[in-house]
Amino acid sequence: MRLLIIGKMSSDLVEASKIAMNKGAKVGHADSIESALIALRAGKGADLIMMDVNMPIDKMIQALKAERFNVPLVGCGVGENNQEKAAQAIRHGANEYIPLPPDAELIAAVLEAVCDDNQALMYKDPAMEDVIRMAQQVSTSDASVLITGESGTGKEVISRLVHKSSNRSKENFISVNCAAIPENLLESELFGHEKGAFTGAVAKRIGKFEEANNGTLLLDEISEMHLHLQAKLLRAIQERVIDPVGASRPVKVNIRILATSNRDLWQYVKEGKFREDLYFRLNVINIEMPPLRNRPLDVAFLAAHFIEKYAKVNGVPVRPLSEEALKQMQMHSWPGNVRELENTMHRAVLMATGLEITPSVIFPKGIKSLHPQNASDSPIRVQSSTLVGQTVAEVEKTLIMGTLDHCLGNRTHAANILGISLRTLRNKLNLYKTEHNIHIGD
Ligand SMILES: Nc1ncnc2c1ncn2[C@@H]1O[C@H](COP(=O)(O)OP(=O)(O)OP(=O)(O)O)[C@@H](O)[C@H]1O
Ligand SMILES: [Mg+2]
Repeated sequence: MRLLIIGKMSSDLVEASKIAMNKGAKVGHADSIESALIALRAGKGADLIMMDVNMPIDKMIQALKAERFNVPLVGCGVGENNQEKAAQAIRHGANEYIPLPPDAELIAAVLEAVCDDNQALMYKDPAMEDVIRMAQQVSTSDASVLITGESGTGKEVISRLVHKSSNRSKENFISVNCAAIPENLLESELFGHEKGAFTGAVAKRIGKFEEANNGTLLLDEISEMHLHLQAKLLRAIQERVIDPVGASRPVKVNIRILATSNRDLWQYVKEGKFREDLYFRLNVINIEMPPLRNRPLDVAFLAAHFIEKYAKVNGVPVRPLSEEALKQMQMHSWPGNVRELENTMHRAVLMATGLEITPSVIFPKGIKSLHPQNASDSPIRVQSSTLVGQTVAEVEKTLIMGTLDHCLGNRTHAANILGISLRTLRNKLNLYKTEHNIHIGD
C-alpha cells in the first residue's frame, strides 16, 4: 500500500503519515501538484492520494485523468471550519474527506477500503488446498506463472498470494489489466514513454515494468493483448530489458511476471491470436483455479464470510443462512464464481429481514443465473416474436446492456457470459456511449 500525501507537512499531516506507516503503508510526500505528478510519472506510484483541501483538488483530479493515473484521492483538512471545502472536494471528485487532526481508526478504515491487497483469501475446500500449496511452492522461484480459470474464481487474489509468499514481497506488486487499456496506450503503459513520444505525451513517464522493478508484475487478461505488443512483451521477458516508447536506449528490469487469463490461451495460440513462444514463456507454471461449483465446501464457508463482512460494512445484524437457502445455493452453478457469490451475499444482507437469510432474497424473482447452460431461464430472454421488427444491432445492444446490468457492471464477467472478448465488449460500449452520449460505468 503506497500513500502519497500532497500538501504542506503540518504536524497533523505528519501524524497522519505516521499512522499510515504504522499500518504498513509506504508514505511519499509532495508539496505541489506538479511535484506529485513528477513522482507519479517517475514510477513512484500510489494506491491512494491524500490531499490538503486548501489545495486545488479539482486540478489534481483533472491532471490524474488527463495522464491516466488511476488513483483514488481523499481530501483532508482541519476540522469543522473546512466543511464547505470538504463538500467542494467531494464535488470535485475526491472519494472521501478526512478531518484533521487525524483519527487513527478512520485513517486505518480508509486505507483498508482502498487497499484491495488486504482481501484475505479464504477457503475450506480440499480442491483449493491443492491450489494454495502449489502457489506457495512456486512463489519462491522467479518463474513466470500463468493463472487460468473462469471469471471470478480468484485469479487476482491468488496472484497477490504468490507475490506475498515470495522473497519479492517487500517490493511492489503492480497489476495491469491488458483488456482495460486501449490498445494504442498499452505499450506506453507497460514500457513508459519519453516526453513528446506521441501526441499527449506531455512528460516522460515510467511504465509499469519499471514501477514493478524488483517486484512482481501481474499482466491481467493477457489474452486481450495485441500480437504486435506480444512480440515486445516476449523480448521484455526473455531479455529482461524494455524499450520505452520514443527512448533511444533500452532499460534493464528485474521482474517476476504473473499472467492471468479466463480464456483457453492454447486455443488462442491455435487460432493465431496468441504467440506460441510467448505462451510457453508465460506458462512455465500453470495454476488452474477451480470453478466454485467444484468447491462445494467453499460455498457455505465463503457465504458466511461475505455475510459477516457486508453486515459489518453496512451496520446490519449478521443473519445466518436458512437451511433451504443453503441447499439451493449448493445446487446453484455459480457461473460468476466467487464474485457472483460475493455480490449475491452483499445483496442478500441488505435485503434480508427476520432471523435468517431466506432463498427469496438470495435468488429473488427475475434475477437468475445467466450461465449459458441456463439460458432458457435467462431473465433477459426474449421470445422470437418480440424480436421481429428490431434490427440485429438493437437486439445485440439489449442483450449486452442486460448482461452487463446483471453482472453489476463487471465487464469481464459480462464478456464471458456473452462469449465475446473484452475488447469487443469495450468497443461496443464505446459505440453506445458516443451514439447516445450516455454514461456507462467502468
Ligand atoms: N478465496 C477467496 N476468498 C475471498 N474472496 C475471494 C476469493 N476468491 C475470490 N474472491 C473475491 O471474489 C472477487 C473476484 O476475485 P478475482 O478478482 O481474484 O477473480 P478473477 O478470477 O481475477 O476474475 P476475472 O477473471 O473476472 O478478473 C474479488 O472481490 C475477490 O476478492
Ligand atoms: Mg481478474
